[in-house]
Amino acid sequence: MNYQCPVCHEALHASATQTLRCSAGHSFDVAKQGHVNLLLAHQSRSRVPGDSPSMLASRSRFFSTKAYDFLGAAVSEQIAMHHTAGANLLDIGCGEGYYLEHYLKGVPDLNPDALWGLDIAKAAVKLAAQRKTGAHLCVAASRALPFFPKSVHQVVSIFAPFDLAEIERVLTHGGIFHLIGPAIDHLQALKQIIYDRVEPHAGNFDSVVASAAWQEIGALTVRQVARLVPPAISDLFGMTPYYWSATKAQQQAIESQAELSVTLAFDIRSFRFDASG
Ligand SMILES: C[S@@+](CC[C@H](N)C(=O)[O-])C[C@H]1O[C@@H](n2cnc3c(N)ncnc32)[C@H](O)[C@@H]1O
Ligand SMILES: [Zn+2]
Repeated sequence: MNYQCPVCHEALHASATQTLRCSAGHSFDVAKQGHVNLLLAHQSRSRVPGDSPSMLASRSRFFSTKAYDFLGAAVSEQIAMHHTAGANLLDIGCGEGYYLEHYLKGVPDLNPDALWGLDIAKAAVKLAAQRKTGAHLCVAASRALPFFPKSVHQVVSIFAPFDLAEIERVLTHGGIFHLIGPAIDHLQALKQIIYDRVEPHAGNFDSVVASAAWQEIGALTVRQVARLVPPAISDLFGMTPYYWSATKAQQQAIESQAELSVTLAFDIRSFRFDASG
């Protein structure tokens, strides 16, 4: 599958010189590590959009503890139920590529050539490329997916922003969207240190559930209790939005914990797209 040129929407083809180019002459450099920046200046609100390098570093270190491996395995299992050889899988907001590795391990017949990871943060995509999975990686915005209509068979979004109309445009008829968000008790112990009253943190499911074009075909919650010690406690904290709303004293309270048992709990919901719905 070819990327779609973000300027004129023609196909982008590899040219001899580490470049993707369309027939109208728009060209995009392919980095040495293989990823490509397809984000146009007006498609991002900030100069350095997406997750910051410090958040990315916390997340990478925390992922290396394997505490989230059970989520990677559970999501892969859901994808595997609908995957056929050659069908394209797109992870929107793939971050530093942790789940891409899981899909390749856990989805039989998934070839890296059919795996596409996209994120608006350049630094995230660069880290994902360093995993050398062979997946196609690009910097782009969820609101302007650089793919042709009806070219993607499954889309995944894990704790990342998405644009439903764009997903509907690029998905095949009958394609599947897996949406993963925090379950009600996710990170409860961490939140209790910061907030007097802990409000449940809801996932981003409403727009899909409300749309007649989508049929929910699967819903499950997976959870595990992780017993964390430093530095994993501050890494987990640093990869969440709670870090930014905490006071200095609360940050120190969390960072000085010698041990913390925290529930990791995720809702995995799968929807089938039916354009006639
Ligand atoms: C909370 S992180 C989750 C990353 C990854 N899915 C994971 O679970 O490790 C959200 C990701 O969405 C990316 N992001 C934010 N806004 C975006 C947008 N408009 N388009 C594409 N990616 C975006 C961020 O850069 C970040 O990598
Ligand atoms: Zn073009």
